[in-house]
Amino acid sequence: MKKSVLVTGGAGFIGSHTAVELIEAGYDVVIADNLSNSEAAAVEGVRKITGTNVPLEVADCCDREAMDALFRKYAFDSVIHFAASKAVGESVEKPLLYYRNNILSLVNILELMLKHGVKNIVFSSSCTVYGEPDKLPVTERTPRKKANSPYGNTKQIAEDILKDTTIAHPDALRVIALRYFNPIGAHPSALIGELPKGVPGNLVPYITQTAASLRECLSIFGGDYDTPDGSAIRDYIDVTDLAKAHVAAMSRMREGKSRSVYEIFNIGTGKGLSVLELVDKFERATGVKVPHKIVGRRAGDIEKIWADTSYANRELGWKAEKTTEETLASAWAWEKRLRSIE
Ligand code: UFG
Repeated sequence: MKKSVLVTGGAGFIGSHTAVELIEAGYDVVIADNLSNSEAAAVEGVRKITGTNVPLEVADCCDREAMDALFRKYAFDSVIHFAASKAVGESVEKPLLYYRNNILSLVNILELMLKHGVKNIVFSSSCTVYGEPDKLPVTERTPRKKANSPYGNTKQIAEDILKDTTIAHPDALRVIALRYFNPIGAHPSALIGELPKGVPGNLVPYITQTAASLRECLSIFGGDYDTPDGSAIRDYIDVTDLAKAHVAAMSRMREGKSRSVYEIFNIGTGKGLSVLELVDKFERATGVKVPHKIVGRRAGDIEKIWADTSYANRELGWKAEKTTEETLASAWAWEKRLRSIE
């Protein structure tokens, strides 16, 4: 049976790591990416790690004709749809860009899957759909809260679109939505990793750039949260562990093991770490100091969230394996390679 997977957004951070894991698990991968927030060099990295010549199709999922041509060119049997915009702050400034990139692209992909008889899709959702939860850890049954950014709203709407479409086409479509917690780290080879453009908005790239002396000082947003040390808590998941969850989801669907046509899984480690704890772990894992200071809270941030991953552990036969120290060391190895630091 052919195992050809279209990976949209496959030149991006999570997409490139997932492409590696899929190829290593025996899948034929085709990467489609418009390179708007990623580099073709990431695909070069995937090729080097896997020793394959994985194709990169420079195409925008919002361009239905271009995507139709790809569905005609390759015999996909599954899709992993990463392609999306992901900066919370930018989504407030440019909501229409987010609704276009994150919603129109998904509608196009689903229409093309139905048209070409492609059944399986793994979708990149986010723990952002839970908002500030009333009870921790969050399970897949924890109610979604009203989104507090257009970005968060696109993830909720996308989940609803997927659900409605499986209800209308139960024989033609199978969906697994993975709700990612905070992905960090880089491939152990240091050939692929996160490539933020400009000043990093996310914590770990800011930490590694500060450690590399590109930034003077890390600002810790908020020291007065209701947490043991006052800084905010997240569930930081290694990107390679996260990538492996996609392979597990893909086999589940292809082997007919899904319990329903639309399934959701939390993908995290199951443990929460504060910003200060993460900085401390980074310093211990790498021996490099990260100058930091506590400043005011960042607008729109939640106080604390971490995942209950027992459903994913049981049903997908998957669990996060890397320690946070290993993951932070991999992020540092990647940053050092980018900056040619010995
Ligand atoms: N933080 C700092 N200083 C920084 C950057 C971040 O203190 O320079 C803090 C944040 O305030 C937050 C934590 O580090 O408490 C993590 O922040 P990130 O920006 O790395 O991640 P977020 O939790 O804000 O966002 C991530 C993803 C989003 C996703 C969201 C869901 O980047 O795509 O989780 O909650 F929507």
